[in-house]
Amino acid sequence: MRKKIVAGNWKMNNGLAESQALITEVRGIIRDELRLDNVDVILFPTHYALPSCVRLLEGSGVFSGAQNCHQEKSGAYTGEVSASMIKSVGATHVIIGHSERRQYFGEDNEICNAKVRSAIEEGLMVLYCIGETLEERESNSHFDILKSQLINGLKEINAQQLNNIVIAYEPVWAIGTGKTATSEQAQEIHAFLREQLSAKYGDSIAQSVRILYGGSVKPDNAKDLFLQKDIDGGLIGGASLKARDFAEIVRAAQ
Ligand code: PGA
Repeated sequence: MRKKIVAGNWKMNNGLAESQALITEVRGIIRDELRLDNVDVILFPTHYALPSCVRLLEGSGVFSGAQNCHQEKSGAYTGEVSASMIKSVGATHVIIGHSERRQYFGEDNEICNAKVRSAIEEGLMVLYCIGETLEERESNSHFDILKSQLINGLKEINAQQLNNIVIAYEPVWAIGTGKTATSEQAQEIHAFLREQLSAKYGDSIAQSVRILYGGSVKPDNAKDLFLQKDIDGGLIGGASLKARDFAEIVRAAQ
């Protein structure tokens, strides 16, 4: 039985005070109304709010993480943040390969792989994101694209390290657009990704990897997505900025 995950990716939203208020509100709803025995909840605020997020979530069972990291440990990389820095503030997770990083910051599979390896070496849990564009889906090349993102992003990652990796399938055409993949479309891809993992790592390991869906997940479509056999939760953007909506998505995963 794979434990579900509901993760909130706040992207470049919320300064320190707003982040603290939202973390406190989410924490309160979870404490009062929800149980976390069969779902892991992770919040990904801006880097600047991360130390505060770690403190505010202490003892709540909710995890915190960063939205990106640099692949090097340290050095002359102005403006960047390394995996060890994320670890140093007590955060446990990092998102790597989000489509916005790939699209706007030129991150290809090779860079993503270097980041994944660096984060794993530091002992962080990685949410590795992959997803096809609308053009790729319409030209029917999405299976090849996804396979290449998955396999190249996980290059040199062994079966044991895979325990610390979660895959997030986020079709680019569904992110922030209000167009969710149907549960069947998402399940088809998740099953395909698990097959690819099985070919590389063997079936029992592939069965233990959690694969999240992301892209316009909302309280009203979450349950249906999470009921699919190979969908192990969601990476939530827009809806994670409202405590009540996010909590309802966590409830849908319980
Ligand atoms: P969305 O974003 O839920 O706003 O579509 C998802 C994501 O980018 O992780």
